[in-house]
Amino acid sequence: MSVIVSPSLLSADFLNLGKDIEMVNRSESEWVHLDIMDGVFVPNISYGLPIVAQIKKISRKLLDVHLMIVQPERYIEDFRKAGADILTVHIEASTHLHRTIQQIKTAGMKAGVALNPHTPVNQLEEIIHDIDVVLLMSVNPGFGGQSFIEQAVEKTHKLRKLINATGSPALIEIDGGVNYDTGRRLVQAGADALVAGSFVFKSKNPEEIIHGLKELDS
Ligand code: DX5
Ligand code: ZN
Repeated sequence: MSVIVSPSLLSADFLNLGKDIEMVNRSESEWVHLDIMDGVFVPNISYGLPIVAQIKKISRKLLDVHLMIVQPERYIEDFRKAGADILTVHIEASTHLHRTIQQIKTAGMKAGVALNPHTPVNQLEEIIHDIDVVLLMSVNPGFGGQSFIEQAVEKTHKLRKLINATGSPALIEIDGGVNYDTGRRLVQAGADALVAGSFVFKSKNPEEIIHGLKELDS
């Protein structure tokens, strides 16, 4: 199975968002990545529910929503209504993670759990069976265009081992600093899905970049 690509709209042209979503629709990506930031969990503020709902109207890709907000459990129903297909919460922001995951699934979405660069994958041991997607951050969340944290490759290896050993169905998704070089090494380490923001949207030919990421072989 080839790698799943999830272009991050954080680096899109917000004055022409419709055009960028049409590009993603035409591309070979399976998902489209939406970064929601509250200025508390992360130092930046991005966009919120009304934008997600508008994107849903024209997107033909699964909405992969990455919540970088405190108390994400308060917004599960709102994001379902806005059209999220995958809803990912940060482990560092979720006191009752088990309950939150169940609530996301009961609402009819796939449940994702994101880990900051400093958070070890063994924190997932007791919950890995319940998760649909693990999102490993390969930059500190909050901004696009940052440099890749190398430790993410080894971390991907460790998570692949944990998932294989437990028989969990979870997919491994990596977010931050993805390009052809880091992407290839992540896929080799066991990544199933790659988020790419600036690498896609700051390029002259974003569709071609998405195609190239799809070609990365394990
Ligand atoms: C960062 C976001 C990422 C961001 C990645 O907090 O979670 O999704 O858009 O951007 P690049 O691919 O430019 O590192
Ligand atoms: Zn993200």
